[in-house]
Amino acid sequence: MPAIETAPAGFGSDNQAGVLPEVMAALAVANRGAARAYGADPWTAEAIAKLRARFGEETEVAFVFGGTGANVVALLAALAPHEAVVCADCAHLAVDECGAPERTVGCQVLTLPAPDGKLPVERLGPLLAHRGDVHRAQPRVVSISQSTEWGTVYRVEEVRALADFAHAHGMLLHVDGARLANAAASSGLPLEAFGRAAGVDLLSLGGTKAGLLFGEAVLVWDPAIAARLPFARKQATQLASKQRFVAAQFSALLDGDLWLRSAAHANRMCGRLAAALGDAAGIELERPPEANALFARLSSPAVRALSERYLIGLWDEQRSLARFMTSWATTAMEVDAFAAALRAEVGHGGAATG
Ligand SMILES: Cc1ncc(COP(=O)(O)O)c(C=O)c1O
Repeated sequence: MPAIETAPAGFGSDNQAGVLPEVMAALAVANRGAARAYGADPWTAEAIAKLRARFGEETEVAFVFGGTGANVVALLAALAPHEAVVCADCAHLAVDECGAPERTVGCQVLTLPAPDGKLPVERLGPLLAHRGDVHRAQPRVVSISQSTEWGTVYRVEEVRALADFAHAHGMLLHVDGARLANAAASSGLPLEAFGRAAGVDLLSLGGTKAGLLFGEAVLVWDPAIAARLPFARKQATQLASKQRFVAAQFSALLDGDLWLRSAAHANRMCGRLAAALGDAAGIELERPPEANALFARLSSPAVRALSERYLIGLWDEQRSLARFMTSWATTAMEVDAFAAALRAEVGHGGAATG
């Protein structure tokens, strides 16, 4: 185990960060005594009440272990066996879940090009051409990631437009909100602005990247889907017997807007990193960061040289593209040291040639 002073700073992913101290404290409190299992405990009731206070009293909530699990549970509750989910070609559920939706839900995942990670509503029209055709899986859920895998953020009107299109054609809108806190903080809006209020039908609400030890929540509003949700969660192996420990973490995250302070901090640190790298010769930023992810083209040897100290790697080897992420735990000093180290390494090794 590395000593604290020599522990690396994690700029490769917000998953590399530790756990918010407030969340750790909440876990310790929840650890006193016994409680009913499988969600029949007071911590679960409290966390659900807090989510309902934000997202509406009619919100149905299922706490789950992880983000892949949240997406799978949402889709399992929503889709009939012949129905498909439509998402961006970079969507986590399409490319980074080892085919879990295909295997566990049994649905087809249809992808559409989305160079900046955002699914344009205009792309959805052609999907309708094969409605009712028994030879084609029927698109039923449109899934978007907020913030996206490319670190971009949908404006609330864009989400609303996707929801309106989906509803006009008998479909549902799912938001993979593994980083909803970052997106909301970046938009200056509360979390719930990206729930029912924006027309969203299914929400995978992220906790882990926001600073929990683990845990996400699936939120749904449709009564028929809500009725299937607990069964979908159990079949998808996402029902925690000691659920109080997931719920207590969410309660802490929602208390006093800890989620907002943490996500806004992560976003600010990403902005600081972009500013520190913006004029560096040999480092090309893909676009200004909108949340807590920054994509940069720079020489592969520079990334390799710093990979241990900063836990980074290349996102796309061929394009010599790296993804840098910040989290609730990133400090300004770490950002400045990382930016200086990158500049120095690129200075030695040359520009972004791969
Ligand atoms: C957009 C998105 N969705 C979901 C997840 C959750 O994945 P996991 O199953 O690793 O918690 C991630 C994790 O990186 C993600 O980036």
